[in-house]
Amino acid sequence: MTNRCMTQTSIFAPKRILIDTDPGIDDAAAILLALASPELRVEGLSVVHGNCSVDQGIVNALAVLELAAAEEIPVAQGCPLPLVQPSLLAPETHGHSGLGYASLPPPRAKPLSQHACDFLIERILDAPGELTIVAIGPLTNLALTLRKEPRLAGAIKEIFLMGGAIRHPGNTTPLAEFNIYVDPHAAHIVFHSGIPITLVPLDVTYRCIFTEAHLQKLEQIPSPIPVFLRQATRFYMEFHDQYQGIQGCVINDPLALALTFRPDLCYYQDLYVDVDVSGGVCLGKTFADFYHMMNKPANMKVALEVRAEAFLELFVERIAALSRALLAQEVKRTR
Ligand code: RIB
Ligand code: CA
Repeated sequence: MTNRCMTQTSIFAPKRILIDTDPGIDDAAAILLALASPELRVEGLSVVHGNCSVDQGIVNALAVLELAAAEEIPVAQGCPLPLVQPSLLAPETHGHSGLGYASLPPPRAKPLSQHACDFLIERILDAPGELTIVAIGPLTNLALTLRKEPRLAGAIKEIFLMGGAIRHPGNTTPLAEFNIYVDPHAAHIVFHSGIPITLVPLDVTYRCIFTEAHLQKLEQIPSPIPVFLRQATRFYMEFHDQYQGIQGCVINDPLALALTFRPDLCYYQDLYVDVDVSGGVCLGKTFADFYHMMNKPANMKVALEVRAEAFLELFVERIAALSRALLAQEVKRTR
């Protein structure tokens, strides 16, 4: 099942998206939100190292699609390591499985035999100007794809990029955000590719805290999706409480995904943004030239304010609708 089962229909053709992901707990939530939104058509997932190894990420991506009865969506395995930096995974944040305490059945589907970079090149060149990339992990796959096939820079419609910290502290070093810090050289390539980018940094995602109350609302629906979210986010909430004193968990990736069809949830500024790759204490720091001191044109639209409650309401409402739809499908199947 992809988006066809949803009650709300969009009067416009769905936005065609490819999700580049390091699934990860909030990545899984973003994938479920995409499947729950009739405004989108998920045309594939490319998996990258990050929250967990790319091998584990492939299993998680396939298992989450199966959970949502969307196993027909193709999944391609990408890069296992950053371009230059040593590997950095995040078991303390997402657990060794990458999905916290959740244990989904081993997926029946297999990934494509094609490398993610080749998958992205093929799909994007088949539909120039049609495909939106939602980048919610380190940018290694995208950077390598752009280097392997430079024509892609003119063929990708737009990128919604969860990453960076502009005025907000980092979450991996005091200055840098995880997706960018893990592979700052890849981020540099993507930032300067000329592709239209909407940056969704910690400045806005840290206002979007998914809480126990949101979970309990979803748990009123007897469906495997709220069960999964409970098990996955319980680990994630423990991390946020222990390391940052946050009661709940920051759902970074679902916000970036939501902006592909609800851009009104944030307020933006067109800015020149760069990333430090000099290798010192600022490695991976993203900085915006608010006062135009570098005399360079804006290279991205940066989300700096968010209507957090409206986004969280949308997230819970869509996940609830997907959970109910799956339940109804299950009841019909077992009749
Ligand atoms: O810093 C948050 C980002 O890093 C999210 O995409 C999370 O899933 C991790 O990839
Ligand atoms: Ca992610």
